[in-house]
Amino acid sequence: MEISKHTPLKGEIKIPPDKSITHRAIILGSLSNRNVVVYNFLAGEDCFSTINCMQKFGVKIEQSDKSLIIHGVGLRGLKAPKEILDAGNSGTTLRLLMGLAAAQPFKTTFTGDDSLKKRPLKRVIEPLTKMGAKFSGDKLPLTVTGGNLRGIRYKTPIASAQVKSAILLAGLYANDVTIIDIPPCRNHTELMLLACGVRLDGSILIPPAEFIVPDCNIPNDISSAAFWIVLATLLEGSELLLKNIGLNETRTGIIDALAKMGAKIMITNEGEEIGEKRGDLIIQSARLRGIEIDAEEIPRMIDEIPILAVAAAFAEGTTIIHGVGELRVKESDRLAAIVNEFNKLSPGTYRAEGDDLIITGGKPKQFAACKTYGDHRIAMSLAIMGAAAEGVDLDDPDCVNISYPNFFKQLGGNFEG
Ligand code: S3P
Repeated sequence: MEISKHTPLKGEIKIPPDKSITHRAIILGSLSNRNVVVYNFLAGEDCFSTINCMQKFGVKIEQSDKSLIIHGVGLRGLKAPKEILDAGNSGTTLRLLMGLAAAQPFKTTFTGDDSLKKRPLKRVIEPLTKMGAKFSGDKLPLTVTGGNLRGIRYKTPIASAQVKSAILLAGLYANDVTIIDIPPCRNHTELMLLACGVRLDGSILIPPAEFIVPDCNIPNDISSAAFWIVLATLLEGSELLLKNIGLNETRTGIIDALAKMGAKIMITNEGEEIGEKRGDLIIQSARLRGIEIDAEEIPRMIDEIPILAVAAAFAEGTTIIHGVGELRVKESDRLAAIVNEFNKLSPGTYRAEGDDLIITGGKPKQFAACKTYGDHRIAMSLAIMGAAAEGVDLDDPDCVNISYPNFFKQLGGNFEG
């Protein structure tokens, strides 16, 4: 697919619903003691992987327009799956459901696509094993033998919300308290558990007698909004409105980083539902300058590093992003994708030094054919880089269906999608 330089972005673009929160609403909604309506869910491939897996656990899930109706079976109501659960491309589906399967009185076998087969699972297997679950190995396909779990105190240096959430889901069933000591990272699972009456005293999890998930309205995904925030910033004369964007502070690192670089991003209409902040964004084009980002800030923008790296290529001066080693184990090796593919559009701009990414801004841009590595966020970042400069030819545009099925329609000018 060929993308060429875009005209300034004016008006409103509709952003798809948040992927992380949709996964949690499907999983926790399935465990509710009564039916749950999830409004504005993400109809992307990753979330359908979660829906399919929960259906194999015996949960009835219906789709009506932009809502899901989940016929919750209660914490103890899941059935032993008759088939293998396929998490597709979705690390969140796999790791969270490994936590859930660890607590069930039956065996569950998981598989996934070639990308997921390469991703690390020991980070969830280790704590879940300590809680009492058994695993057939550490690679897909993988069988979890669940059962009675004990609570654990677990400390990990990996700032992974997927690990934290797997332990929290298992901890819901444990016969003792669970205490997790993990660096700050996205807290959607905790917020939804709190909305269900689970007590979280600091890092201690205490489940309620009855588990009822409230109907929920999911905000739109800041990780998807980020592509347009950057494109509007880069295309002179842009003024763009993005409505109902999730503004949970564990996710807004991209806004802070771009603002520090000189981006003009205004937030209006702020609100909160199910503990999740949200608001409208107005973005005007602006000139950017390079900045330095510390490793501790990365978890708040982990999925936005590729698009931030695009912005940095257009900035004046150098941008140094510290501590991005986790990018190597995402849907693709995103550090390699940035250095290998982004450099084709802006030669001499990107280099990795250990776990740091160094971007020399302001180099001349050119058209090139680039590989997406089958990774939705790499594909969209490359498309934005092409749209902001001299165009790009992408080998596998369909991979955007994971999180943003309407992305190319909108890039083509149909902002409704
Ligand atoms: C996610 C957590 C992050 C993120 C992923 C979604 C989640 O992964 O990169 O896209 O929904 O919990 P890690 O927790 O492995 O960092």
